[in-house]
Amino acid sequence: MKTVSLNRKKQTEKDAQRQVELRESGRVPNHIAIIMDGNGRWAKERGNMRVFGHQAGVDSVRDTVEACAQMGIPHLTLFAFSTENWMRPASEVNALMQLLIQSLRKETRKLVENDIKLVAVGQLERLPDKCHRELLEAIEITKDNKRLQVCLALSYSGRWDLAQAARKISEMVINGEVGPEDVNEELVQSLLTTNSIPDPDLLIRTGGEFRLSNFLLWQAAYSELYISKKYWPDFRRDELYKSIESYQKRERRFGKISEQLEKKDMRQVSAGV
Ligand code: IPE
Ligand code: IPE
Ligand code: MG
Repeated sequence: MKTVSLNRKKQTEKDAQRQVELRESGRVPNHIAIIMDGNGRWAKERGNMRVFGHQAGVDSVRDTVEACAQMGIPHLTLFAFSTENWMRPASEVNALMQLLIQSLRKETRKLVENDIKLVAVGQLERLPDKCHRELLEAIEITKDNKRLQVCLALSYSGRWDLAQAARKISEMVINGEVGPEDVNEELVQSLLTTNSIPDPDLLIRTGGEFRLSNFLLWQAAYSELYISKKYWPDFRRDELYKSIESYQKRERRFGKISEQLEKKDMRQVSAGV
């Protein structure tokens, strides 16, 4: 098996062993989604500008992507910038866009080397031209990679996603492609911008707050939630492993009762877990 290394450090034997133990101790999520929060507070506590926290958060992204790839988790979605984040001061928005450009330039080659595919969801056309171009380029370069798919939610919000699906449905009805009676969950799901990605099994939020902040509102209907007190720049694979351990202890009933569940839940079997 190809080794995965986005960091300069080599994976320790202890870490590899921890990953094996996690895989053996229960089901591992097929899709992990993360609300990467707490960068500003992390920087402020250190007497620094907020942007310093965003910069430090890049190391957490790298470590998380690497650990997911090593563990064979096929899907990771990262909430990097919300629709509402456009309302932040222009200096912070600009710094975040700059950071995105820099990171894409720096990391794309490593994504290719490690067989990692990059995709993005959100109102990408709102991104500054340069940023948009770099992003599309990285997506194109990594499009045939298979090991792990990393989805960046950028200029994304759950309400926007649902509203754009509703708009497409109205057009389909007007064009006579479907009737109102054909509008069901499957149709809505198929028109969300995340339609090629399974729903997240585990949704992590760092920074200690208990809210979704307009992330995957539809898709997270049955996600297991894990709130980490750690600020995103302090988040490393050890905390990821803790969240997976917590996930492994949950009973996912999807509305049923315990006695109805088979040892291995059918949804997880179909998700290939
Ligand atoms: C998350 O960290 C990053 C983005 C939203 C882009 P924040 O910038 O929200 O940091 P806090 O929550 O203010 O500490
Ligand atoms: C959520 O964090 C968005 C991202 C992490 C990209 P926010 O910091 O924007 O959320 P609120 O404002 O605390 O709800
Ligand atoms: Mg925040």
